[in-house]
Amino acid sequence: MNDQAPPIDFDAIPRSRLPALLRAMPKAELHLHIEGSLEPELIFRLARRNGVALPHASVEALRAAYAFTDLQSFLDIYYAGASVLLKEADFFDLAWAYLERAAADGVVHAEIFFDPQTHTMRGVPMEAVVVGLSHACRRAHAEFGISAQLILCFLRHLSEDEAFATLEQALVHRHHFIGVGLDSSERGHPPEKFARVFARCRALGLHVVAHAGEEGPPAYIETALDVLKVERIDHGVRCTDSPALTQRLARERVPLTVCPLSNVRLCVFPSLAQHNLPQLLAEGLCATVNSDDPAYFGGYIADNFLKTFEALPQLGAREAWQLAQNSFEASFVPAAQKAAWTARLRDVFSAAVAGG
Ligand code: ADE
Ligand code: ZN
Repeated sequence: MNDQAPPIDFDAIPRSRLPALLRAMPKAELHLHIEGSLEPELIFRLARRNGVALPHASVEALRAAYAFTDLQSFLDIYYAGASVLLKEADFFDLAWAYLERAAADGVVHAEIFFDPQTHTMRGVPMEAVVVGLSHACRRAHAEFGISAQLILCFLRHLSEDEAFATLEQALVHRHHFIGVGLDSSERGHPPEKFARVFARCRALGLHVVAHAGEEGPPAYIETALDVLKVERIDHGVRCTDSPALTQRLARERVPLTVCPLSNVRLCVFPSLAQHNLPQLLAEGLCATVNSDDPAYFGGYIADNFLKTFEALPQLGAREAWQLAQNSFEASFVPAAQKAAWTARLRDVFSAAVAGG
């Protein structure tokens, strides 16, 4: 950041200007499962195109089934939805639809999760998955100026041997993804189950992240850091069950990719008003706001910002700036690119101070 730049007068931005600012401010999205952006309308369109039978009669009936009680109840429906994805063009269409929406929400950079095992275990070639997604990322950069990169996630309810096999298959397409993550059912599947495959990924120069502390205990966040040596924690909100861990995350500036609407839909918090995002920021953590699985949880990234700020009056323009700035800090891009986005952020906030 430019140390010479004058401070932003956050108090001069009235609350009435906050929704437009939250939408317009440049931001990075760092926790988005591309399969979780599969809208019911696209599920039906792809089912028709591919001749796949669906258990629900209509878009409305499918949406009505989106009533979750915990992570597993969601995952069962999420994996069923992904069954319509078969061809490279399906993966392109999926990612393209997300990137269009993200660009409209002020996203300048997205690091996108994909779950290859969900598809390869149904006989879909790894190439169709990776090449379809990657093609959409490249085209969106050219058409919307959004940068987008892929992170391959291992499903933690499967074995480490299956993760190794998936990695070997994916390495043919190494240039199409920047890192690996760990997702799916958290409880009973601690990070250390994947110690050896993450060590191999680090040796290959891949970035490493992991879901931890969504439903699982603070100990899972600790082993994600100490055994897997991850660079970011996805979710991580349960860190506040341990004050010592919370202080460590703040001290080490370990980014947390927080997903407020997801947390409420999956009953991690009873309501947005009871979410611990304000506490995480107040304690100096590098927290970011993301959408996780927007087609299932009631909104994309701008909705996450707008609804969370509406529910939590402690969050204002200063916190909006901090969250956008944190998203750049936590992203896997060169420092010069982060500085350029910070300068754009400053322009948008300066205009808001001036009344724009
Ligand atoms: N896969 C997709 N969304 C997820 C979530 N919120 N937690 C774990 N795995 C996921
Ligand atoms: Zn997630």
